[in-house]
Amino acid sequence: MRRDPSRIGMIGAGTIGQAVIRDVTESGIAAIDYIVTARGERPPAAVGSGVAWFTDPQEALSRPVDLVVEAAVPDVLSRFAPAILERSDLCAFSCTAWADRALEAAVRAVTERTGHRCYLPHGAILGLDGLSDGRDLLESVRVTTTKSGRSLGLDADAAGPVFEGTAREACRRFPRNVNVHAAVALAGIGFDRTASRIVAVPGLASMEHRIEVSGPGLAWDIGVTSRSLGGVSGAYAPASATGSVRRIVADRGVAIA
Ligand SMILES: NC(=O)c1ccc[n+]([C@@H]2O[C@H](COP(=O)([O-])OP(=O)(O)OC[C@H]3O[C@@H](n4cnc5c(N)ncnc54)[C@H](O)[C@@H]3O)[C@@H](O)[C@H]2O)c1
Repeated sequence: MRRDPSRIGMIGAGTIGQAVIRDVTESGIAAIDYIVTARGERPPAAVGSGVAWFTDPQEALSRPVDLVVEAAVPDVLSRFAPAILERSDLCAFSCTAWADRALEAAVRAVTERTGHRCYLPHGAILGLDGLSDGRDLLESVRVTTTKSGRSLGLDADAAGPVFEGTAREACRRFPRNVNVHAAVALAGIGFDRTASRIVAVPGLASMEHRIEVSGPGLAWDIGVTSRSLGGVSGAYAPASATGSVRRIVADRGVAIA
């Protein structure tokens, strides 16, 4: 039996947001209800003919949507994730926000009470399903990210290791750059047991993530390299994001579990 298409509220209309808006609109798999952008931005092309536009997430909260997709900045999640989950499901890309213990606890409490779901998209990497399923077996998880100093928000000529510590601390220091560490930590053994390393290479055009996992009888080494699109996202992020949103809203066909 067919349901009406899900209604989606979109927060953020940059690289990921625009890809999701385009895919949802062109495929008709769901309907975009509203888009929230930062103040001072021009209205996104999709606005009009039934799509509302806001520059403050607070103004959009009362609209009845099934799913809010956040692709903005971690601060938006810190401020609005519990309120969003009171009313709808949430798929959030700015994963470093979850390193805040109080926010994670609030989100877990509201999802428990309301039954709404908070989706952790795999984003720039692969294998969150395996980490989550194997979480009780894992002894060590280490994530190493290699990027140019410029894309890390450091001097362009920064070279060598620039951070070594817990994923929680990495998220605090590099909130725009280590979503991969946050996602691995949340899916796996947590922000305090996941080891993070960040390495700067001057002029590096790609973003490289290496995830080394070990436990009794298992050893995984996952490497992902993606060309930077110039901002915080790599070339794979738009396809990954649209795939995640499609999996969340699809109600038919063959599904990956
Ligand atoms: N999970 C992952 O693996 C992964 C991968 C890539 C990017 N990301 C994260 O996803 C988010 C979006 O990435 P992107 O490449 O599309 O970023 P982007 O910089 O291209 O776009 C961000 C958009 O956020 C919006 N925005 C900023 N502040 C806002 C506010 N206060 N309220 C509402 N909207 C606001 C703006 O519209 C802007 O266009 C970032 O936080 C990024 O770090 C996560």
